[in-house]
Amino acid sequence: MDCCIVSALCFLIPVYLLVHFVCFIFADADFTLLLASLAGHKPAEAKLRGLVVWITGASSGIGEELAYQLARCGSRLILSARREDELNRVKRHCLENSDLEDEHILVLPLDLLERTSHEEKAKTAIQHFGHIDILINNGGRSQRSLCLETNVDVYKTLMELNFLGTVSITKQVLPHMTQRGTGSIVTVSSVVGLAGAPLATGYSASKHALQGFFNSLRSELTDHPKILISTVCPGPVQSQIVKNAFTEELNKPVTTVGNQEHKMPTSRCVRLMLVGIANGVKEMWIAQQPFLLFYYAWQYTPTFAWAVTNLLGRKRVQNFKAGLDADSAYFSKPKTS
Ligand SMILES: NC(=O)c1ccc[n+]([C@@H]2O[C@H](COP(=O)([O-])OP(=O)(O)OC[C@H]3O[C@@H](n4cnc5c(N)ncnc54)[C@H](OP(=O)(O)O)[C@@H]3O)[C@@H](O)[C@H]2O)c1
Repeated sequence: MDCCIVSALCFLIPVYLLVHFVCFIFADADFTLLLASLAGHKPAEAKLRGLVVWITGASSGIGEELAYQLARCGSRLILSARREDELNRVKRHCLENSDLEDEHILVLPLDLLERTSHEEKAKTAIQHFGHIDILINNGGRSQRSLCLETNVDVYKTLMELNFLGTVSITKQVLPHMTQRGTGSIVTVSSVVGLAGAPLATGYSASKHALQGFFNSLRSELTDHPKILISTVCPGPVQSQIVKNAFTEELNKPVTTVGNQEHKMPTSRCVRLMLVGIANGVKEMWIAQQPFLLFYYAWQYTPTFAWAVTNLLGRKRVQNFKAGLDADSAYFSKPKTS
């Protein structure tokens, strides 16, 4: 009898581990988020229907796609970013592809760097629909420059925009949510909010700051169990992020934009985000392999993670110095624009 159990275990345990290994190879999110997504997208859509969602950075990339998918779910939207014409384009597209009507989408231009305007913007947003259910702090910019060559003003602006701008909007919306006793604040951080990457010292610092802020805020709000504080940590996703990144000097544009095709499609990233939001997932890791492996390596085997990061990092810096796309250290063909 004992011998049968041992034989069965000898067979089942490797099979179990093999199944997990195969699942992991094809995974594009952490296990909690994938489990939530197993329940399907339809239930998530149903939970988001009718909710009022304020999206910053809604004029392009992830924020734009969030607007489209949320509109199709039937959420009412407040779209914010600096470029009003782009927000109006996103609004038109939302209206054409959903059952929403004009009054269900408010275009509310705002600059995350202009903190003095945030109180007024939040008042307008809350008054328009009477309340806000979900704030998605998505607006932000990245960086492509070596620390030794980067002006401190770039670091200052990255922190002012990605960190303080986000904190400022959050502080305007949070009292409204604590009063109502419900709401979600979802912040788009990054894989570099958990780990680090060369050419992104200031960007990574700003995302680490967000992780620290929201992880602390979450535990400060334990008296409000219906308020969700969630951070989203995507790996590379198709968007305008590299084109819009800061460089060595504040007004110097990026000259080399890499190939997007090996990055995660924006629609898949946003779909996973919405499943996570609808299911109250507090931290979401969203990335294709081999990037997802890095999240686990950084979490569980940092010494190994440092070794691999340094190897890839050296290649990234070499590419950058040669005027090539830095990301060709990770992806296939570099493309110079
Ligand atoms: N794509 C990726 O690979 C990736 C990976 C990890 C994390 N993320 C994060 O995802 C978020 C969205 O980025 P994305 O990839 O979608 O890049 P994106 O296409 O460049 O979109 C960035 C958005 O932020 C807005 N924005 C920039 N500066 C702003 C300011 N001063 N005030 C208000 N809005 C501002 C932009 O709109 P305006 O120019 O009209 O203001 C735009 O809508 C960012 O927080 C980024 O850090 C992206």
